[in-house]
Amino acid sequence: MRERLSMDKDWRFHLGDPVQAKESSHKAVYGHAKAGGSRGPAGIEWNDNEWDTVHLPHDWSYRQPLDRENGVPDFGYYPRGIGWYRKKFKLDPADKGKQLLLEFDGIATHATVYFNGSILERNFCGYTSFVVDITDRAYFGDQPNLLVVKIDATVSEGWWYEGAGIYRHVWLTKTAPVHIVHRGIWVSPIRQVAGRWLTNVETTMGNESEAAVEYQLISRVAQADGNILAEELTNGSCGAGQSAVITQDLPIEDPALWDVDAPHLYKLHSTLVVNGEEVDTTVTNYGYRTIRICSDTGFYLNDRPLKIKGTCNHQDHAGVGVALPDGIQEYRIQRLKDMGSNAYRCAHHNPTPELLEACDRLGMLVMDENRNFDSSREGLRQLGNMVTRDRNHPSVVFYSLFNEEPLQGTPIGRKMVKRMIRAVKKLDSTRPILGAMNGGVMEDEGTVDVTDIAGFNYMNGGYDKFREKHPNQPIIGSETVSAFSTRGNYISDNNRQIFDSYDREKASWGNSVRESWKTINTRDFVMGTFVWTGFDYRGEPTPYEWPSVSTHFGILDTCGFAKDSYYLYQAFWLDEPVLHIVGHWNWPGQEGQKVKIMAHTNCDEVALYLNDILIDRQPIDIYEQYEWDVAYEPGTLKMEGYQDGQLVKVSEIQTTDEAHTLRVETQKPVLAGDGRDAMAVNVYAVDGQGRFVPTEQSKVSFSMKGSGVILGVGNGDPNCHEPDRAEERSLFNGCCQLIVGSQAGEEDIVLTIEGNGLQPVSYVIPVQPAEEPPFVPSIDERYINNWLITQEIAEARPDPNVTIHPTDMNSWEKVDVSFGALQMLRGASGYVIYRNQAPVSDVEGSGRPYLWFHSISGDVEIYVDGRLQLKQFILWPESLEVPLQGVELKNQVTISVLIGITPDMYSPGIQGSVSIRTK
Ligand code: GAL
Repeated sequence: MRERLSMDKDWRFHLGDPVQAKESSHKAVYGHAKAGGSRGPAGIEWNDNEWDTVHLPHDWSYRQPLDRENGVPDFGYYPRGIGWYRKKFKLDPADKGKQLLLEFDGIATHATVYFNGSILERNFCGYTSFVVDITDRAYFGDQPNLLVVKIDATVSEGWWYEGAGIYRHVWLTKTAPVHIVHRGIWVSPIRQVAGRWLTNVETTMGNESEAAVEYQLISRVAQADGNILAEELTNGSCGAGQSAVITQDLPIEDPALWDVDAPHLYKLHSTLVVNGEEVDTTVTNYGYRTIRICSDTGFYLNDRPLKIKGTCNHQDHAGVGVALPDGIQEYRIQRLKDMGSNAYRCAHHNPTPELLEACDRLGMLVMDENRNFDSSREGLRQLGNMVTRDRNHPSVVFYSLFNEEPLQGTPIGRKMVKRMIRAVKKLDSTRPILGAMNGGVMEDEGTVDVTDIAGFNYMNGGYDKFREKHPNQPIIGSETVSAFSTRGNYISDNNRQIFDSYDREKASWGNSVRESWKTINTRDFVMGTFVWTGFDYRGEPTPYEWPSVSTHFGILDTCGFAKDSYYLYQAFWLDEPVLHIVGHWNWPGQEGQKVKIMAHTNCDEVALYLNDILIDRQPIDIYEQYEWDVAYEPGTLKMEGYQDGQLVKVSEIQTTDEAHTLRVETQKPVLAGDGRDAMAVNVYAVDGQGRFVPTEQSKVSFSMKGSGVILGVGNGDPNCHEPDRAEERSLFNGCCQLIVGSQAGEEDIVLTIEGNGLQPVSYVIPVQPAEEPPFVPSIDERYINNWLITQEIAEARPDPNVTIHPTDMNSWEKVDVSFGALQMLRGASGYVIYRNQAPVSDVEGSGRPYLWFHSISGDVEIYVDGRLQLKQFILWPESLEVPLQGVELKNQVTISVLIGITPDMYSPGIQGSVSIRTK
């Protein structure tokens, strides 16, 4: 039966290309050209003991110091470079005969995947998930498997922080030879008439067995509580080595619809039966919903017009680079939901699958975007991958083919888009397709009218003109706003490279939040907006460069702390009354000076009080909001919000005392002790009365006990150069954040936070016992494979240390001893020599080194660098320990094993794995 195991744990990692001894002999070159012959760090003998141990997801880029000299502003001045990952693991003998698939959710950027010494895959897009079939090449039992990934992140695909490394999850899936193929389920519910749906299911099964099979596919629709609502059985046959596509329609009456407010999910259970035995089952989450677009009235979800209130986002977060634990995906999507946002644009690339799962669960629509605008075979492969991976997600409602491509308004672009659309529609014709354009929309021979939707990046003034020309084409603000603000800051300062928060700073091509929303919300034919950006991200510190290392565009900072515009969106997008005071009231020494104060509100009238004295009462135009210059006087600034004359909301800010201690808020009440969960822990400076101190900038330090670990820290300051992998951080305008990860265990976490002059805080995060999801453990042992054996059985005892001429590829042959005894030695008499070379330098100091033969028999003599180590007659195969004596522990020693054979020996020779161990 199917098993899916995490491959995230315990990889060896090396930054940069390890120095390799030059091997230019014919023997080396010849050997390297053979299957399994990869050398250096890709080979089994490579010593990675000194490499770091890391867990996935892992991003090495942000862990490096910032590099102003060589760094690129777009990448946030973080170095990228080359990195190597190695993982050695064993497979159970019971896995023999199974199909084994490695799934890589994403690697930045160019990845070469080696498995047991052969390159099995090359992947060229840092956002594309891919699989590697290791079925043919796997070892079972004692002989370990070696998975190596070389990553070249010197190449880039974007103009933002892309990270570097295996920054998403890796999985190993084991299935029976007759199975449902990878991504072989496509569920596409179709509404027939109101309340009646057909759940269209396309299942692809594969038969990798040696014989044709008769199969039965059972598909069942289950509610969230497990209750089965529909079932369909299909019988069929499938030839050996063939695959079959089975189409089924499961009728469902009145399903609970997936919607942004109530994201009901269903499960499709697929079971494949052969000869009365269940050979495979999978579970696919999906939802029932309809989408429709109209050139006059925009987007419809479940027949309800829905203005798209979206944000564009890249994928990094404070503390963890692009290697986000799943819990942080959830955190980010929830922060956007709480703002009233209903849509997320994966700019400018497809996301990790866990992000889409979070969007499915939380009710967030998704524009899934392709990275490379490319209609070549490779381009279409990347695009097709996105579609087949993501099409079961109810959250995904748009596919975007490109962002701001110079060819967008040209006949070449048109041809490319046509081909790409055809490729997408073949796989999924249920989602409208667009390109995010920043020009070319008025060109007749461009791309715009061949897409389902015209995507407008900025170009606010162009909507009406375009509509005149193309009245039947729906329009969306695929990218909007690009306003600048710095969280908690109220005075723009060019020297300090920070912006105020009064919604007036913006890129020259952008708009204020208010301008943009007014333009879009007053035009029914514009489907909605995708604001640049939801979260600040590393890199692209426009309009600045160093010392700014991350953006100023976000509505939230890199930690997810809200800037003031967050509340402006709430005012626009939430139905409940919102009244937020933009500004703080801590201006010591500035008594009598004017301080700008602004309301972000959806109330129709606001009254402003200073120390209980009414200063002003104003009607509010929702698209304008309102601001006052108030003479500073310590105390309380209060706003009252009125709706139709009724008081509906009160907000106030107060002048606080100095910071006294810290307040901790966690993303969720408990952390699962499963070794995988993670959460954001937000830290706020507060005064003696527990009031937030918005001006505190001091450094605080963290320590932690219990089943948790600090994965990283951040504070949302775009100019901060403190490391994110640390146990301390400066508060930025009163806040900082820790990302806390679970370590398998049940001990509650005690987080202690200390700051200079601040009362230390001890905060308990309860840990809920939870099972660790199944994973593939790594092993650390050093194995020697790639033995040579003399091709002929010598009658007379040869010199065991005879030199092999480097051009001689034919007196010796390669032998994989892990497969057991060689038939040619059975019943023979004479001598053979096994020969190998292995590095033993590292074992020095760490204990007494010895060679370990899992199974060996014969009249055995073992030599290392010509020195006899052991001589023993072994009639029946047994394991053997050979301490190394008088051997210089250098990088390469030569091991020779002479075996005398007589016909009465049951199975002479080396017949199992060999390793170097220490005591
Ligand atoms: C757009 C681009 C985004 C980002 C943004 C900044 O042109 O699509 O990736 O660079 O500008 O305003």
